[in-house]
Amino acid sequence: MTDASSTPAIPVTIHRGDYRPPEWQVPDIALDFALGIDETRVSARLSVVRHADAPAPLLLRGDGITPAEVRVDGSVWNDWRMEGGDLIVDLGERTAAMVEVDTVINPATNTQLMGLYASNAMLCTQCEAEGFRRITFHPDRPDVLSRYRVRMEGDKAAFPILLSNGNCVEQGAGEGGRHWALWEDPWPKPSYLFALVAGDLVVNRDSFTTMSGRKVELGIWVRAGDEDRTGHAMQALKDSMAWDERVYGREYDLDLFNIVAVSDFNMGAMENKGLNVFNTRYILADPDTATDMDYDGVEGVVAHEYFHNWSGNRVTCRDWFQLSLKEGFTVYRDQSFSADMGSPPVKRIEDVRLLRAAQFPEDAGPLAHPIRPDSFQEISNFYTATIYNKGAEIIRMMATMVGPERFRKGTDLYFDRHDGEAATCEDFVKAIEDGAGIDLTQFRLWYSQAGTPRITARIATDERNGERTLHLTQVVPATPGQPEKAPMLIPLRIKAYDLDGGHGVEEEQLVLLDRTEMAVPLGHYRSPPMLSLNRGFSAPVIVDFAREEGELEWLAANDDDPFARYEALQQLMLDTLVTAVSGKASDAGAVVDAIRQTLTGSAADPAFVAEAVLLPSEAFIGDQMVIVDPDAIRRERLALQAAIGTALESEWRAILGQLAPAATLLTPLAKGRRRLRGVALAYLAATGMGDASELAFGIFSGADGMTERQAALATLAHGDSKERAQALDIFYRRYRDNPLVLDKWFQVQAWSLRSDTVAAVAALAEHPDFTLTNPNRVRALYGALSANQAAFHQADGAGYRLIADLVLALDPKNPQTAARMIPPLGRWKRFGDARAAMMKAELERILAQPGLSRDVTEQASKSLL
Ligand code: ARG
Ligand code: ZN
Repeated sequence: MTDASSTPAIPVTIHRGDYRPPEWQVPDIALDFALGIDETRVSARLSVVRHADAPAPLLLRGDGITPAEVRVDGSVWNDWRMEGGDLIVDLGERTAAMVEVDTVINPATNTQLMGLYASNAMLCTQCEAEGFRRITFHPDRPDVLSRYRVRMEGDKAAFPILLSNGNCVEQGAGEGGRHWALWEDPWPKPSYLFALVAGDLVVNRDSFTTMSGRKVELGIWVRAGDEDRTGHAMQALKDSMAWDERVYGREYDLDLFNIVAVSDFNMGAMENKGLNVFNTRYILADPDTATDMDYDGVEGVVAHEYFHNWSGNRVTCRDWFQLSLKEGFTVYRDQSFSADMGSPPVKRIEDVRLLRAAQFPEDAGPLAHPIRPDSFQEISNFYTATIYNKGAEIIRMMATMVGPERFRKGTDLYFDRHDGEAATCEDFVKAIEDGAGIDLTQFRLWYSQAGTPRITARIATDERNGERTLHLTQVVPATPGQPEKAPMLIPLRIKAYDLDGGHGVEEEQLVLLDRTEMAVPLGHYRSPPMLSLNRGFSAPVIVDFAREEGELEWLAANDDDPFARYEALQQLMLDTLVTAVSGKASDAGAVVDAIRQTLTGSAADPAFVAEAVLLPSEAFIGDQMVIVDPDAIRRERLALQAAIGTALESEWRAILGQLAPAATLLTPLAKGRRRLRGVALAYLAATGMGDASELAFGIFSGADGMTERQAALATLAHGDSKERAQALDIFYRRYRDNPLVLDKWFQVQAWSLRSDTVAAVAALAEHPDFTLTNPNRVRALYGALSANQAAFHQADGAGYRLIADLVLALDPKNPQTAARMIPPLGRWKRFGDARAAMMKAELERILAQPGLSRDVTEQASKSLL
C-alpha cells in the first residue's frame, strides 16, 4: 500500500539562516481521537496566541491530510485555504483564538511509520521530526510548545490499553464495547514529543524513588508473551534514573514513566514525554535470544531516551538545525553512563570504532555536513552519525578541556538558563563558557565546519642540548560547500615516555592545538621519546605520525592508557595490511608477537583483550587508501587472519578449551570472556583447519545462550561446510517465530565472507519471511550487505544493483528507511573508475524514478556530487 501522495517531489531547501520566531504560539492543545485501525478521527482544539506585532495568517502544517471542518471560536470558519499540504487560516485582526480542525486518517495504510500507524494490530505514533503534521494540522515546529490534553476512545477488546504523555486523569466505559481515557501532560512540549499508543499490551511494572523522595511508577509495555524479556530494560531504566541524579543532578519530573515496545519502527527509539516508544530490539532481551551486545544496546538506548527527558524535553531545540544540541549531548551522556556501568576503556574503544565506521566515511564523502547543518531538504536525512556521534565527541572535548567539576557547572547553568525553552547549540556553548569558565570562541568552529581534521606529528631534536620538540600541523579537508577551512581548536592528550633513564617529563599533557602549525616543547630526553598521542581519543581526528620500528609494539604492550594500547596494536595491524594490499611484502611476525603479548599479558579484562586483538574491518582498511581495492583487502585480511590463527593456535584453543561462562551470567567479566571466545573461534576458523567447522558446530549446538550461538553461526556462515547448512537450518526452525532472532538469521548470511553472498542476499529477499514492511528486517538483510565491503562492491556491480532495486521498491512505502540505504552508493569516488561508473549509474537510475520521495531525492542527488 503506497502513500506517495503525501511526499512532494520538488526539493525545497531550508536554510538555517532563514529562521524566524513563530508568529503564533499554541499554549494549549486538546486532542480527541476516535480510534480505529483503518479509520481514526482526530479533532484538534488549538488555543492560539499571536506573537507577531501585525496580523499574520496562521500556518498549520499538514502532510497527507485534509481538513474535514475548520471552526474558529466555536463557529464554522471559511477563511482558510490549502497551500501544498498545509492549512492557512486567516484570523484577521485577532490576537488569540480557539481553532478547531477535524481530520480523518488511516493508520493501517501508513507504511511510512511516521505519524499514527498500525503495527501488529496496535496503534502507535512517531512524530519526530515532522510526523505530527500527518495526524493533525499544527505549526509542527519545535519552538512551539503546548500543554496537551488527550482524549482517546476505542473498542475495548481491540485496544484495552490506552496511553499518552503525562498522567491518566480519567477513564471510563463508552457505548458498544468502547472505552476511553483522558491524559494530561503538565509540561509544555513541542509536537514532536507527542505520543499515543493503543493496543493489547501487557506491562512489567516497577517503581523508582527519586532523590527528593517522590515515587515514580515505571511501566514497560509489550505484547503478551514478551513480558519475561523486559527485565534488563527495566533495570537499565532504574540505573539511568539514579545515574542522571548522581552525575548531572537531574530528577525525573512526572509520577509515571512508560515505555512501549513496537516491532515496526524506523529508528531505535523515541523520547516522547513520559511515554517512550521503542523498537522491540532495544527492549526485549533474554540470554536465549539476545547477545551480550544486544544487552548493551538495550541498556544504552534505554538510558539515551531517558536522558532526553532533560537534554531534549525540558530543554528542547529551537529548530531542527540544532538537532545535535539534544542528540550529541544525549549520546555523550549515554556513552558516559554505559562506561560507568561496565568498562570505560572498552566502551571508549567501541564508541571510537563506531565513529570511524559510520562518521568518518560520512565526513569524507558527498553527504558531509557540520554537526549544525546550514541547510537541508528533508530533516529525516540528518539523523546521522555526524549529528549524533561526532556531536557527542564535540561535547566530550569540552568536558575534557574543563574537567568534570567545571563541566558540571556548565551543564547546571545550561539546564537552569534554558529549562522550558527551545534552545540553540550556541546557547549550550555559551552556558559551558560561562559556567565552566573557558573561552570557546575558536572551539565553535566544530559546529560550523565539516570534515575530519588531519593532524601530522613529528618530533625534532636539538642536537646541542637534547631538547625535544613535537611539531604538529592540522588540515581540515574541504567538504561540499566548504572549500576553505580555518584551523580548529583540537585538544590532544599526549605523553612522551622516556625509555632511557627517566630524564624526560613523562607527565600526560593536554595540548590545545589551535593553529595550522604548532611546536610543543617536550623537554630533555637522552634517546627519542616514545610518543603516545591522542590518548583516549581525546579529539575526533586522524593522526599521521611516522614511527620507528618497534614503537607500536612497545606502546601496545606498555602504554598506561588502555585506549592508546588498543590503538597501537590496531595501527600495527593496519600498517601490515595496507602494505600487503599495496602488493609489497609484509610480515605478520610483529602483529603475531603483539597479539601474543596482549593475550598473555597482565591485562585482566578479557573484553579489552578481545577488542584489541580483533583485526580492523575491511572498510577501515579501505579508508586508509586513496583508491580502495575491496578484493585485495578481503584477500589480505583473510590471509593475516589465517596467519594469526595458525601462529597462535594453541592460545586460541586454550581460550576455547575453558568452560564458557553461563549465559545467564551478565557480569562484565563473563561478557568479556564470551567475546574473547568468539574472537578465538574466528581466528581458528580462518585457518581452514580440518576440525574448525566441527569446533564451531560444537559451540553452536552446545551454547546455552545467544552470544555463543550467534558467534558460532556467524563463523560457520563464512565457510562452506555441511555444518554451515545444518546450523542455519536448526537456527531457522528454532527461532522462526521470533522476529528479532530471525533478523539475525538473515544478517549472518548477508555478512558472510563467501564469494556468493550477493546472490545469497538476492535469494533471501525472496524468502517468505522477508518483508519490506519491517525496517529491522530490511536492515538485517540489506544493511548487512552494504556493511560487507567486498560483497557490496562485487566487481560486476550486482551489489549496487541490489541496493538500488531495494531503494526503488521501498521508497513508495517507507521513504525514510529507503533513503538510509543510499549513502554507501555515494562513496563512488574512492573505488576506482569501473566501480564509480556503476555506482553513479545506480544513483541515476534511482533519480529517474518518477514520484520519488523528498528523502531519497535529496540523498541520491547529493550523492552524485
Ligand atoms: N530522537 C530519537 C532518538 O535519538 C530519534 C528519532 C528520530 N526519528 C526519526 N523518524 N527521524 O532517540
Ligand atoms: Zn536521541
